[in-house]
Amino acid sequence: MRILTVFAHPTRSSYSGAMLDAFLTGLDDAGHEWELADLYREGFDPLFKPADYAQFTTGPADMPADVLAEQERIGRAQAIAFVFPVWWWSFPAMLKGWIDRVWCNGWAYDFTIDRSLGRLDLAKAALLCPGGSSADVYRRYGYHDAMRRCIDVGVLGYCGIDTVDMHVFPGVDDEAEARVEYLNIAAQVGRDFAKRHPIVDISSLSQIDRADGRS
Ligand SMILES: Cc1cc2nc3c(=O)[nH]c(=O)nc-3n(C[C@H](O)[C@H](O)[C@H](O)COP(=O)(O)O)c2cc1C
Repeated sequence: MRILTVFAHPTRSSYSGAMLDAFLTGLDDAGHEWELADLYREGFDPLFKPADYAQFTTGPADMPADVLAEQERIGRAQAIAFVFPVWWWSFPAMLKGWIDRVWCNGWAYDFTIDRSLGRLDLAKAALLCPGGSSADVYRRYGYHDAMRRCIDVGVLGYCGIDTVDMHVFPGVDDEAEARVEYLNIAAQVGRDFAKRHPIVDISSLSQIDRADGRS
């Protein structure tokens, strides 16, 4: 498969960067092609500006050039992956802004008040998300499930991707053994990328009619 991997961390030599390297090595091992979107190093501007808001209200007639370039990059891919640290139980603002601006109304989805239609023709999304808090904290507050609802269903599923493989790796700031093991898992996620991981246990929350008639 041709996989666009989107990386959002201010420092390439971070632990998140090591996880990116492990994942890309796994993709290589399995013979996949990949392109890297390293949002910080490329200087993507995540600020949603009046021109972005105008296309949200009127349709994607005059998309800003930097947004068009990102959309072309997604158009070249058959699947997508994201590597980012969990910040406030979600994406870093850089990645949130990339989605706000690039996955726009009329391109990634068609909005209607009752039911929207997802338009992205991507076979799968994988997410690799190191987090500082412990597994116990994630369990106690249901953060993992909350992230899956918001991201797997509310963003990726909403835009038409119904095979999502999200991995949250808790405790990375102070669990040395886990940090090593997680890199092995990240490589394995890359090697297993072609396997299906449908959004099953939360599919009843699907918000969207699909282009192919499924819901
Ligand atoms: C602004 C900010 C917000 C954070 N919010 C969370 C959070 O909500 N949940 C969590 O588990 N860790 C949180 N963390 C910790 C990071 O997830 C953790 O430090 C990171 O994954 C470690 O990887 P790195 O060395 O590549 O940055 C936060 C860190 C920062 C800087």
